[in-house]
Amino acid sequence: MPVTVRSFAKINLGLRIGAAREDGFHELLTVYQTIGLHDVIRVSVGRGAGIEIRCADPRVPRDESNTCFRIVEKALRVLKAKRRVVVAIEKRLPVQGGLGGASANAVAALLALERALKKKLPATDRLRIAAEVGSDLPLFLVGGTVLGVGRGEQVYPLQDLPAMACVVVTPEVGVSTPKAFAEWDRRMGGSALRLGEPAELRPAGQPRAVVPTRGEMLPAKKPAQLRPHTSRDRIVELGRGLSAWLSETYSSAPSDLLAGRGRAENPLLWLVRAGIENDFEQVVFPEYPELSEGKRALERAGAVYASLSGSGSTLYGLFRSRAEAAKAAGRLRREGWAALASVTLTRRAYWKKFLVSSF
Ligand code: C5P
Repeated sequence: MPVTVRSFAKINLGLRIGAAREDGFHELLTVYQTIGLHDVIRVSVGRGAGIEIRCADPRVPRDESNTCFRIVEKALRVLKAKRRVVVAIEKRLPVQGGLGGASANAVAALLALERALKKKLPATDRLRIAAEVGSDLPLFLVGGTVLGVGRGEQVYPLQDLPAMACVVVTPEVGVSTPKAFAEWDRRMGGSALRLGEPAELRPAGQPRAVVPTRGEMLPAKKPAQLRPHTSRDRIVELGRGLSAWLSETYSSAPSDLLAGRGRAENPLLWLVRAGIENDFEQVVFPEYPELSEGKRALERAGAVYASLSGSGSTLYGLFRSRAEAAKAAGRLRREGWAALASVTLTRRAYWKKFLVSSF
């Protein structure tokens, strides 16, 4: 019997890129936030074998490269279930990157499959399978405000904050995530660092020879062992801001940080003040000036905070009220931007609204 679920999108409330790792990924520190925009996923199981992906949107692949295909294949193997599975994707989200659309689709398909099969995967298997398909899948197994570390796949629920109005802008630009990471590496000192263990872990006075696998050697002026330190420092800096934010929101101790700012304000705005920013802006904005223009348009339309989401091209703004967000979205559309008003989704709302129907 078919199971229908909502596959909600996410935005990144800040993202810091750390050092490149030996496995080709980068250390990350980010805060994911689920929002109300969503696709609809319907999963049905029957006799036989094979996985079929149905989607009317020609931009969505229907072969084994589809994230839903990949996750269903893995889940069937772990569950030792031999069934024919049909995943129907009703695409409502803009397909531009940064919203985690394909990642959310996969997690929605996984959970709908478990329900359709009346079988449950252990939570650790679920997280592992999701992380194997992509770094930003596991967050959708948590929902709400989620801390992401490692390559973004290690996820920890943060406290459920009140919903906040937002506007999502999706410019018609495709940003390649691997290319954006590569450009970040280039700016941070070259791909030679890919090989190196973090310099700060080496005993003082024992610099290790850095041999590049690809790309050029580092210029002599920039000592290689200092660069990962810089990446790491950036992560530590955001980590400190988040710690301050968490300890402030979890404890009732008075703090200078918030003195005079008023506790009636949405705590998400305190997070903004913790110094969140998205490192991808530094490499993506120079390449696509229309995206920094989009961020400025959101700010002009009244956003209290505006940012690129993930590696883009999605931009978002946070607003003080739904009315202000709706007005801003209207204004942005009149200016020619593809803009949608939405609201951040608490973990409770995410799971309450997740299941549409199950027969
Ligand atoms: O995990 P995901 O499939 O989303 O990653 C896509 C690509 O983005 C990876 O192959 C890698 O090149 C890059 N990436 C990275 N560091 C991360 C996440 C992704 O370098 N933390």
